[in-house]
Amino acid sequence: MSFKIGVIGTGYVGLVSGTCFAESGNQLICVDIDEQKIAKLNSGGVPIYEPGLDVILQRNIRLNRIKFTSDITEAIRNCEIIFLCLPTPPNEDGSADLGYVLAVTETICNYIESHSITDRRIIVNRSTVPVGTADKVKAIVQAKTTNKNIHVVSNPEFLAEGFAVEESLNPSRVVVGTSNAEIGKVMQELYEPFLNGVNKFFLMDERSAEVTKYAANSFLAMRISFMNDLSNYCELNNVNIDNVKAGIGSDPRVGPYFLNAGIGYGGSCFPKDVRALLYSSEEINATLTLIRETQAINQKQIQRFISKVTSYFQNDFSNKTIAIWGLAFKPDTDDIREAPSFAVIRALLELSANLHVYDPEAMENTKLHFGDSITYFPSMYDAVRNADALIVCTEWKEFKAADVEELKKLMKNSVIFDGRNIFDLTLMKELGFHYASIGRPLVSPN
Ligand code: UDX
Repeated sequence: MSFKIGVIGTGYVGLVSGTCFAESGNQLICVDIDEQKIAKLNSGGVPIYEPGLDVILQRNIRLNRIKFTSDITEAIRNCEIIFLCLPTPPNEDGSADLGYVLAVTETICNYIESHSITDRRIIVNRSTVPVGTADKVKAIVQAKTTNKNIHVVSNPEFLAEGFAVEESLNPSRVVVGTSNAEIGKVMQELYEPFLNGVNKFFLMDERSAEVTKYAANSFLAMRISFMNDLSNYCELNNVNIDNVKAGIGSDPRVGPYFLNAGIGYGGSCFPKDVRALLYSSEEINATLTLIRETQAINQKQIQRFISKVTSYFQNDFSNKTIAIWGLAFKPDTDDIREAPSFAVIRALLELSANLHVYDPEAMENTKLHFGDSITYFPSMYDAVRNADALIVCTEWKEFKAADVEELKKLMKNSVIFDGRNIFDLTLMKELGFHYASIGRPLVSPN
């Protein structure tokens, strides 16, 4: 069974979801207000860096299964299922801004009403939205149209950047929130090709689906904060947190994932979703103590790391060159949203350090923020030449495979602050580095 599907918003989520639905044989119309982006997409260009996406996108364009347009009415007219993949950016108070979601719903309803469309339309919200959003969308549907065949579904995405295509084609789970059994069946049919006969389709009411998304991200953020909190304790006790991680992660009740201590979580989801969940809990006076601490630990962790660097140099960075490896908030992406590297850069610029940076993918995006206040280098080795210290902010594979002897030769001083534990402690000791990592004993040359 194939469906006519509209996707409103060709950002990260919309583009990956739309392309993967085309891959399973559906007919896709993807809409965005950004005409330049639409032109690029129609010619097979991919505006984001996501492994595997370009190949599937180009194939489905060739097969005429996916097209991009800036005309939203084309999708409303032709598509039974309309996915809303719109940004829900944080307001100043931390709450999620539903402006785009509600405005597009209104546009859809107004068009349906003015063109007397009576066929079934299923509006599926794929954006991360606070509990009660589906009710708000339904209220607009009721107020703006007489068509009784419009349904509202909550279908949160769980895509992690770098693995989004893989996760879409073979999802760990599909969460669909609808109180209408028939619509639930349609959604199950849509997802059937991706389920591989495995029971991972979870049908629930709209509100539960909405909370599931925030709970999933907050839980993962909490695991990271647990390890980051423990990292301080391990450092002070001369214990290696990586051993502790291996020891606890092998218990199936704990599991090995999201237990890497580091300089704190970043990205477009965890910080924003934790804040939004906290905001919504305050609205109803239901304190989420653990989530609040999760956020506080994350903020403390990056400050603790920056302090290690500044106290080593006694706050004096005059004539000091500091190399920074990794600008993206995590490897395999060019995304710099809420990247811990940015907090490091800001703090060191404040102290007038001379910063030499390198990232395999995120330098263009970084330039848009920091311009010429930092210096960009074409390779990790170029960036460390004559540096007084190296700071590792992102665990790109190429950094892990770096030739540390070469590093020692190139650097002015053998000093590394590693926010991602990519180097071996024994090797660092042997080579005479001052090596400060996270939750592991300090290696010092003396
Ligand atoms: C996350 C969720 O994984 C995804 O399901 C959701 O839909 C969106 O948010 P993403 O933001 O792409 O995806 O990245 P993820 O790989 O989850 O990493 C988030 C942050 O946590 C990164 O800054 C990463 O460096 C950090 N992290 C992750 C750790 O510090 N330690 C870990 O063990 C894992």
